[in-house]
Amino acid sequence: MSDQPFLLPSDLKANYEAYRDDIREAALRVLDSGWYIGGKEVDTFEAAFAEFVGAAHCVGVASGTDALHLAMRACGIGTGDIVLTVSHTAVATVAAIELAGATAALIDVDPARFTMCPSKLRQACKALKTTGTPATAVIPVHIYGQPADMHGIMEVAQEFGLAVIEDCAQAHGAKIDGQTVGTFGAFGTFSFYPTKNLGALGDGGAVVTNNQDLAEQARLLKEYGWKERYVSALAGMNTRLDPLQAAMLAVKLAHLGDENDARRAVARHYDDAFADSALALPVRADNVEHVFHQYVIQHAERDSLQQFLRDQNIGSLIHYPVPVHKQPAYEGRVALPAGPLTVTEALASRILSLPIHAQLTDGQLTRVISAVGEWLESH
Ligand SMILES: Cc1ncc(COP(=O)(O)O)c(C=O)c1O
Repeated sequence: MSDQPFLLPSDLKANYEAYRDDIREAALRVLDSGWYIGGKEVDTFEAAFAEFVGAAHCVGVASGTDALHLAMRACGIGTGDIVLTVSHTAVATVAAIELAGATAALIDVDPARFTMCPSKLRQACKALKTTGTPATAVIPVHIYGQPADMHGIMEVAQEFGLAVIEDCAQAHGAKIDGQTVGTFGAFGTFSFYPTKNLGALGDGGAVVTNNQDLAEQARLLKEYGWKERYVSALAGMNTRLDPLQAAMLAVKLAHLGDENDARRAVARHYDDAFADSALALPVRADNVEHVFHQYVIQHAERDSLQQFLRDQNIGSLIHYPVPVHKQPAYEGRVALPAGPLTVTEALASRILSLPIHAQLTDGQLTRVISAVGEWLESH
């Protein structure tokens, strides 16, 4: 066992310390304002985040799960709709589809990119169409900060008339050919869960869109369908980003570009250190800007590596150990219209997320690299 301090895979305290004075000032400003729902702080953050993403509209909500749910509701997706997504994702993606009242159908991912495979999407759309129950929407997930192949996915979505909602919970600021994810489909949805690239000090989320009608629909639906106070024009929900979290997020948003650069720098160090090793390293797709929410390596003896790191007081995580379609709540119940998810299932037993965040010090990075190197020597 190591006598070194425990090295966290993501370090929320270090992130807070980096912006401590500004965060405390913003928090006190909100506490002293007497205004704790909606208002100026939320409006300011929504405008700044829309600008960061390059979208015309942003609507703050209470979580990334709610963002997906709200986006589906605003697109008119609900009971009777089939929504295609991947199984290699946080369970939240599928939970949100079911919250909206729709049925989830899951497809496989590209083995190099870890994201939705457009040819599997086409295969699933064809299969569902022949059964007389076509899919109506698709949710690609930009997992680990790597953008999905949106050009390929949009082509299939247009061919089959699918609404596209991008799950950007792990990809704040990632780009394809210079265009930020979240702006390809009808909606982009974000989580501000504390460990995300842009994290609140609690729960939070947002939807972005370039479509004014969809933005208005989302604004109505997020607060009881109120057009005017206490009068519901639509049957809506309650999901709000509160001013305290909006103020925290506004502080951190100003540093998000630099933080994403810092994550990419950590990723480059890992790439160089493990270039000729037995680890399979994350691949960057062509023309994308990856934002490295996670740095995910693959090895058949991943469990042994994780245990070795744990013994060195180094934390690592598995995102995710059980694909959604294999989890007790979903197994045998969610449809797999393009066949078995062989890539997804193989990945689950091989992947490991190494520590990565913007405040990771050179010393910590060296510790991880040497520990992984030591393990590799004995394997
Ligand atoms: C890919 C993905 N989608 C959706 C979510 C849900 O976000 P939240 O935890 O804010 O509800 C998460 C976060 O865990 C996520 O990683």
